[in-house]
Amino acid sequence: MEPSPVTRLSEEIEHTVADAIRRSFPDVHDPDALVRGSDHADFQSNAALPLAAATKQRSRDIADALAGELAPDSMLADVQVAGPGFLNLTLTGDAIWRQVEARLEAPELGLSRPAADTVTVIDYSSPNVAKQMHVGHLRSTVIGDTLARLTVCLGAQVVRQNHVGDWGTQFGMLIQYLDEHPGSGWDATGDAENNIARLDALYRDARNEFDTDDAFAQRSRDRVVALQNGDEETTRVWRTLVDVSADAFQTLYDRLGIGLDRADIAGESTYNPLLDDVVRELVDAGVAVESDGALCVFFDEITGPSGDPVVLIVRKKDGGYGYAATDLATLRYRVRDLHANEILYVVDARQSLHFRLIFETAARMGWVDDTVSPRHIAFGTVLGADGTPFKTRAGDTVPLASLLDDAVQGARAVVATKNPDLEAAELDSIARAAGIGAVKYAELSTARNTDYRFDVAKMVALQGNTGVYLQYAYTRTAAILDKADDASGRIDDTLALEPAERALALHLDGYESALRDAWQTHEPHRLASYLYSLAKLFSAFYENCPILPSAPALRANRLQLTRLTQRTLRHGLDLLGIDVLDRM
Ligand code: ARG
Repeated sequence: MEPSPVTRLSEEIEHTVADAIRRSFPDVHDPDALVRGSDHADFQSNAALPLAAATKQRSRDIADALAGELAPDSMLADVQVAGPGFLNLTLTGDAIWRQVEARLEAPELGLSRPAADTVTVIDYSSPNVAKQMHVGHLRSTVIGDTLARLTVCLGAQVVRQNHVGDWGTQFGMLIQYLDEHPGSGWDATGDAENNIARLDALYRDARNEFDTDDAFAQRSRDRVVALQNGDEETTRVWRTLVDVSADAFQTLYDRLGIGLDRADIAGESTYNPLLDDVVRELVDAGVAVESDGALCVFFDEITGPSGDPVVLIVRKKDGGYGYAATDLATLRYRVRDLHANEILYVVDARQSLHFRLIFETAARMGWVDDTVSPRHIAFGTVLGADGTPFKTRAGDTVPLASLLDDAVQGARAVVATKNPDLEAAELDSIARAAGIGAVKYAELSTARNTDYRFDVAKMVALQGNTGVYLQYAYTRTAAILDKADDASGRIDDTLALEPAERALALHLDGYESALRDAWQTHEPHRLASYLYSLAKLFSAFYENCPILPSAPALRANRLQLTRLTQRTLRHGLDLLGIDVLDRM
């Protein structure tokens, strides 16, 4: 049986206000309590404003009437009417303390599971075979992984799909090139990362030759046909390319702590056997039509960058299928076979038009309806620290492994300065957690639609909205609880709360709302900014409210608040895929 969740204070207040509305205005159905956070009290309700419009009375009078109904009780200490009719609501101290205790006692902080009974497919990371992952893939990988963890936490069944680019005419070209250059220095043995770096370079050489040598281009095309027809030797080489690449991707996932493995790979080639059937379905439905020898879906209502209506080419003139056909087959498979209710495509914003056309085609086919929503979870570009496109001096993409090395090194310097007594081995493992955490946090604390600058010095800073700052906040909770010896004392709910305690306790209770918000908008930065506020509120509490030296009852309450902060921080950072340490 599912443990029953702890009702959020904001929700309880909503019920209380809604009940008051029902008593005062029995004719109003389904009243909206419009409860929000407030700068003047613990919460505020704006319900009087729409009620005034509906009942043609003055909002101030309505607020007065509701305030009369909301007599102080065990939950509400005070109700004040302000402005045109806002209700400022202040909770009793014991309601707040009881809530802290309830969350500490409940499994998993008393969170509820609003996503239960749904299946969410998340297409993320999705790098390309024989090419190094670039920073764009890093964004997809980190954002996608957090969305997966968050969605699991809220109760959904999540299917991770790594849609690697493992098919297409470029493989004919590369395989042909490897065949013609046996001394190219590539033999699929050795270190995975070096292998893929080498392949990436050979790929560029092959492209060069393809563009300048017609005879080679023709041999490459023949090789594509051989690959499509399952020619044994060609397929063997192709499989080696796929394996070597998958090893390199996995090395990076492991280093980053990403929850993807081999079993999550469902690359483009997976859908080859479905393409003919998908296209037949499109033609039978009249959704795809022939035009100039190609098979197309037309969109009069959607215009491309040039302002002309766009066309989705499902099958090329030469009979070949491309990225579009594969994505149509993929979407149909995710709906029909994986039974998805929601499908998230965590992909670069530059592919928006592509996904719009795919989703629209699927809607015309009736593959998606009210019970299934495919969504493009778009993200912006990663720029260098100076705001220019992220490239090496030679104009190449920067290998991700070297980026991570830089971050770990930067974190190491920061940690060593702060704590010069650390032993080398401990410093290494802290630097790893802090450096990797810093990269992930920088990614996840930025609104995903915007571009961001990859600036190691900023990422690993001790102060400001950084992963390192949050990890330090966590170590502070650990140090206090460690020193306290007995941190399990019970809460005394009759004690009054200091403002810093109250602010912290209310924020802790808002954790679930922050999770829901990040989940519904698919915006992890909302969770990151919640955690940053939590760390700041904890630090204000720590500075203003002595913990260990306080009298026993007060000390026990403050220790419990510290424990709940610690658990919430750990839980939230875990959803962001960031490790916590007891000591840094
Ligand atoms: N491999 C593609 C790229 O590197 C991303 C694939 C995204 N997923 C998809 N279903 N199209 O740009």
